Amino acid sequence: MTPYAMTYALHLLAALVWVGGMFFAWMVLRPAAVSTLEAPARLQLWLEVLRRFFQWVWGAVLILPITGVGLLHLHFAGFDSAPRYVHVMMGLYIAMLALFLRVQVLLLPELRRAVSSEDWPGGGAVLGQIRRWVGINLLLGLLLVSVAGSRPGF
Ligand code: HEM
Repeated sequence: MTPYAMTYALHLLAALVWVGGMFFAWMVLRPAAVSTLEAPARLQLWLEVLRRFFQWVWGAVLILPITGVGLLHLHFAGFDSAPRYVHVMMGLYIAMLALFLRVQVLLLPELRRAVSSEDWPGGGAVLGQIRRWVGINLLLGLLLVSVAGSRPGF
């Protein structure tokens, strides 16, 4: 395996974990939890699910720019000569990172506080905000992968 292929594979795996994880959470786990669990159990489940998923997202958040910059140098000899879709990818990455940090740093601790004080309506409101931001991030991720996948030559 060449260094380019290894870096490329890592880059794709990190994108897959992040975007695929959000897709599963939003499209599968969320409706299943709503239809089977009462608010206290549902909020506790989400707290644990997000805590575990975000550990993987942290890995993806670090691996994507490291491998992305590696690919930039291996394939395009730097930022300036890279095609437009790579610039779009970097811009969308920054937007996705900002939304992820908002949920991780501001909203997840609020959800933890609500669950530990058994404030179920308050917890439901925070979970609603988390759902919205993760939904937006999922759309950005899907857009990014579509932009990356429709590069010239394919
Ligand atoms: C600072 C952040 C990033 C940089 C510098 C970067 C850079 C790159 C580069 C240089 C390539 C290879 C292009 C080629 O060889 O033709 C690539 C491919 C790709 N990247 Fe990124 N990337 C970043 C973030 C992301 C993110 C956040 C995602 C998705 C969540 C993503 C998804 C992809 C995909 C799916 C490809 C494969 C596209 C293809 O070759 O068809 N990237 N990226």
